[in-house]
Amino acid sequence: KITNWPLLKQSSTMTKALMNQKTLVFGKNPSHISVQQSTQEIPKLTNKRSVLVKVHAVGLNPVDAKLVVGDKIPSTWKRTRSLFHSLAVHNTPIGFDFAGTVQQSFCSDYKPGDEVYGSVPPLYGTLREYVVAPIHQISHKPSSLSWSEAAAMPLVGLTALQALKPHASDTILVLGASSGTGHIALQVAQRLGFSTRIAVCSKRNLEWVRQHCRPTHIIDYTTEDVVASVQSILSTGGKQLDVVFDCVTSEDPRDMTANYPAMFVDQCQERYIRLGGQLGDWVRAGFERSGRLTCFGKEKLFWIRFPHSSG
Ligand SMILES: NC(=O)c1ccc[n+]([C@@H]2O[C@H](COP(=O)([O-])OP(=O)(O)OC[C@H]3O[C@@H](n4cnc5c(N)ncnc54)[C@H](OP(=O)(O)O)[C@@H]3O)[C@@H](O)[C@H]2O)c1
Repeated sequence: KITNWPLLKQSSTMTKALMNQKTLVFGKNPSHISVQQSTQEIPKLTNKRSVLVKVHAVGLNPVDAKLVVGDKIPSTWKRTRSLFHSLAVHNTPIGFDFAGTVQQSFCSDYKPGDEVYGSVPPLYGTLREYVVAPIHQISHKPSSLSWSEAAAMPLVGLTALQALKPHASDTILVLGASSGTGHIALQVAQRLGFSTRIAVCSKRNLEWVRQHCRPTHIIDYTTEDVVASVQSILSTGGKQLDVVFDCVTSEDPRDMTANYPAMFVDQCQERYIRLGGQLGDWVRAGFERSGRLTCFGKEKLFWIRFPHSSG
């Protein structure tokens, strides 16, 4: 059954042009992000577990750029990175997050015309006119959000919510508070009841974070000694540091220079949650997630889980 789907209305006169869509794909060069326009067939909806969506806005995340270099592969394995790029990345549509209008659906939760937002699986891409999105990775778009606000939300919002919810406690330190994940994490932390929320960001983002993310304390890492400032806040309030949410540390040597785990893993009482690491960290985190092994102690390398996917 196809309703509210004028562009794709099936008819004997349907031309090939109507079945195609413009898509942005990763270019050939693995050493920098190159993008090219491509024409691909509009995907077909074949089951109740997905809906066809016309895309209105797309959110980009660091992971889109990291795919180009193959960030999970050590930087010294140049040939493996290059092989990964040519086999998996080159010509692949870009993007995870999107917001748009349902065009076709066989499931009762969504009907044509519904406004939705969500994420698609890796290497499927959202920088295209239409996506087929799994229903367990989308939701109805709140009317208070614009298209672009909704498209910016899925990966960073889910990351903050899923990572912090099991560890709701009293005091949290958010490293990289102005980042996509960090600025949502501060707001999620307030909702989860953290009464002391310490934000760390650069001078240029200080006022923005203060106004929009409601931290109880804020530290400018470009001019202050972060460890001393955190200790002073904790001792003044008679608090301990329960949770650290580190949005900075990753496999990239530029992010490693901040050296945050060395500063705060020992101080943190419950969980030091970080969002990035090197190949070995991801392998250990995979074992941890499978429930077979605990390798990080208080540290936890987190990544998003979709309830019905195996990842
Ligand atoms: N594992 C997962 O499931 C998952 C999910 C989402 C994201 N991630 C990863 O998490 C990281 C953050 O992603 P994002 O989308 O939130 O990044 P983003 O929006 O690109 O923000 C990065 C921010 O980090 C801040 N920063 C850089 N150095 C800093 C330092 N030394 N101290 C404090 N802040 C610093 C910068 O802000 P200032 O100008 O204020 O310094 C910058 O805006 C990325 O590595 C991403 O790949 C992982």
